Amino acid sequence: MYLDNEEERMLNGEEGEAKKIAMEIILRLGDFYGAEKTVKINNAHISGISYKNIGDAGIDFLEKFVNEKVAVKTTINPIGFDLDFPEFFTDDDDFLKKQMKIVDIFHRIGVIPSLTCTPYYIVDIKSGEHISWAESSAIVYANSIIGARTNRESGISALASAIIGRSAYYGLHTDEGRKATHKVILDFSPEFFDYAVLGLFIGLNIRNGIPYIVGLKNDLDALKSLGAAMNSTGSIPMFHAEGITPEWKIADNAEEIIHVDKDDLRATKEKFSVDIEPESVMIGCPHLSEGELYAIEAYLRNRKLREGKNLFLFTSRHLKNKLMNVVSKIEKSGAKVFSDTCMVVSPISNRYKILGLSSGKATYYIGREKIKVFFSDMETVLGMVTYES
Ligand code: F3S
Repeated sequence: MYLDNEEERMLNGEEGEAKKIAMEIILRLGDFYGAEKTVKINNAHISGISYKNIGDAGIDFLEKFVNEKVAVKTTINPIGFDLDFPEFFTDDDDFLKKQMKIVDIFHRIGVIPSLTCTPYYIVDIKSGEHISWAESSAIVYANSIIGARTNRESGISALASAIIGRSAYYGLHTDEGRKATHKVILDFSPEFFDYAVLGLFIGLNIRNGIPYIVGLKNDLDALKSLGAAMNSTGSIPMFHAEGITPEWKIADNAEEIIHVDKDDLRATKEKFSVDIEPESVMIGCPHLSEGELYAIEAYLRNRKLREGKNLFLFTSRHLKNKLMNVVSKIEKSGAKVFSDTCMVVSPISNRYKILGLSSGKATYYIGREKIKVFFSDMETVLGMVTYES
């Protein structure tokens, strides 16, 4: 891989140990994927920062970077609890201390303490910009809906890119790597919840590739849900939606064609869902948008939480602060709105045997933890734990 003078200096350790490690990581990745050079990035987003996910080995690795600063604007994913209510999520002091240590390391290296998987609501990313994002749902959103360019980075490679301000130039950074591999034609007009199920279906059926989808509507929250689900059951870092996403006009070149009908969605939903009343409902994977918070508030107006049930919602601290009025109206129903964390990266889901979820991504991951999931549209799951008052 060709390296410029500055990159050579970083690799030789002349710019410090942290940049040397970061440069080595990017070089190794580039060599593996056949990149000929690096590309400068404008932004990074780092995932895998919950102590539940990275453990002590992850902390040891992060400590190698504490004396360095990120070279580009960088955000971070949710952690294992809400910073305002840590004891609600865990009574394990060791877990709390170690999670805070991780947050402190990121603070010291200069990241924005966003603690959300929806950095695109916080930072202004433009179509065509090269970025380095980890967090599977955010990667699809950035590539597909914004038109920015990032590979499916890991927390480690996104951190390395943030430190040196570069990524290896291959895959989704190139025009070639963004071409559709499959054409997916919907034989029905999808409703909001269908996007989550369709995402699971596409991930399971394409596994690895880029779909060009015909028949979607231009609803950003629905497309967010679709992308998050497909990059969970499959390794699908991008989709093109005909007439909607920025690059659809140059992407309709896939030879393999898949037709999807309502029966396909019904079968996919059945694969992931049980028909048992949930003890608790959790919504907000990916973190809830402004529009979704308003929609939930409207649904819960004049409704109350049923005895013995729980309703937990997850959004970014940024939006929770911005919409305090909406959040307090939602919480009048008995629901709790949390930030900084979610049902997958915190230990909260493990308290329950049956959960009600409307997210395809959360259903996939929580279902793998042997927790039963009642998977349905938002109104249905909300209705199962609340009553009209
Ligand atoms: Fe976000 Fe947690 Fe889902 S990090 S995408 S809410 S698994």
